[in-house]
Amino acid sequence: PRKSADTLIVFGITGDLARKMTLRALYRLERRGLLNCRVIGVASTEMTTAEFTAQARERIAATGQTVEDDVFQRFADRVTYLHGDVTDPALYLRLAAEIGPDHTSVHYLEMPPTLFGPIVEQLGAANLLHDACVAVEKPFGHDLASARALNARLRALLSEDQLLRVDHFLGKEPVIEIEYLRFANPAMTGLWNRGSVSAVQITMAEDFGVEDRGKFYDPVGALRDVVQNHLLQVLAAVTMDPPADAGADTLRDRKAEVLKAVRTADPRRSVRGQYTGYRDTPGVAADSDTETFIALQLEIDNWKWFDVPFFLRAGKNLPVRATEVRLILHRAPRLAFLPTPHQAEQNQIVLRIDPEPGARLQLVGLGEETWRPLYLDSSFAQELGEPFEPYERLLNSALTGDHSLFTREDSVEEAWRIVQPLIDEPAAIQPYTPGSWGPDGAGSLVHGRPPWHEPWLPGAER
Ligand code: BG6
Repeated sequence: PRKSADTLIVFGITGDLARKMTLRALYRLERRGLLNCRVIGVASTEMTTAEFTAQARERIAATGQTVEDDVFQRFADRVTYLHGDVTDPALYLRLAAEIGPDHTSVHYLEMPPTLFGPIVEQLGAANLLHDACVAVEKPFGHDLASARALNARLRALLSEDQLLRVDHFLGKEPVIEIEYLRFANPAMTGLWNRGSVSAVQITMAEDFGVEDRGKFYDPVGALRDVVQNHLLQVLAAVTMDPPADAGADTLRDRKAEVLKAVRTADPRRSVRGQYTGYRDTPGVAADSDTETFIALQLEIDNWKWFDVPFFLRAGKNLPVRATEVRLILHRAPRLAFLPTPHQAEQNQIVLRIDPEPGARLQLVGLGEETWRPLYLDSSFAQELGEPFEPYERLLNSALTGDHSLFTREDSVEEAWRIVQPLIDEPAAIQPYTPGSWGPDGAGSLVHGRPPWHEPWLPGAER
């Protein structure tokens, strides 16, 4: 790992992400005694550091986080607020003076992606990239060509080792847990391949609409917003080979390798939906063709997964909020002494990512006249302490120089390569009713395979 940072610079500290996530995460790290750096917040609003910290305190509390006076005071003592225009070289001179010589910094760009290049170039010109890392939020590019161009522009001034691409799904505990579940448990490892698995369903359902994010969401849509990044990273964690050592690059090599084996998506094996009423959202075009739901099939051309269809679906305004991975195992053979077992549901392994981490093994047992499902359920909820939230974990990793949870150039570009045909030749948009499971076409996508399974919800029998 790299050296730990002693200075964190947050560009856009008055923005939406900071308001909802970053300030809370920094406060929680402070409470754990894990925040060991100065924090310099940069934004365009003119205010003093004292005004900023007062605002920060309110914003942290507004997320539902209890704010303790002494913890907050320790945090506030680290903070300096700097206002200025990020396109103005003078700001970087002031920033350099504020940071001082011989520091190890993380510059976190919570800014629109069009500003990533200009800000990094200004940081370079002000000699602020030496011994520094730069963290950038998604979206990383708009398609394969723009992601490549952005990588090239940033990499002209930064080594790959200095560039942290944030995908908050990689900070989620159950996503990290996939590796342990798979490779620390021979019971799982033995089943985790085409020999036992007949199909995989990955669902990311949200029970709310685009609401106040119309301006951001309309040029993006579900494919770019959550599939290219979050769901393909989950798919990589579910299908990669075990890393040979604990190095950040070994893990990321394994992920890149499996993404390389994913066949480029076929638009005919995809379904796009838009919930009715979406076009009335502020910031959304009246004739918008943007998908708020997408379902697609992917295939992996390698020894472990060949011929196992991976069905992914993601959407807004679906019946529930739930993200899960469901491995559906092969059918049991028909045996004369068993009551019609071939009609039973196939065995399934479910990994629940949201809303509560957990795993389930669904088996078949004998019911009164025929089969019934048996569930072996486990919740990952830790008895000890409070789990890290994704942004807490990612900020802590960035500051301590552990890069294993950040996406690397190769997997980002592979992920764009996989979805690019769905951008070039998008399937016709189909309307769906808010609160339904998306357009009817999503059902026909899995035709001939087990139908889409309702997600396993916390506390639910089925
Ligand atoms: C974000 C997307 O990356 O992830 C949002 O932009 C989505 O559209 C969100 O709602 C979901 O993340 P989480 O962790 O809240 O489930």
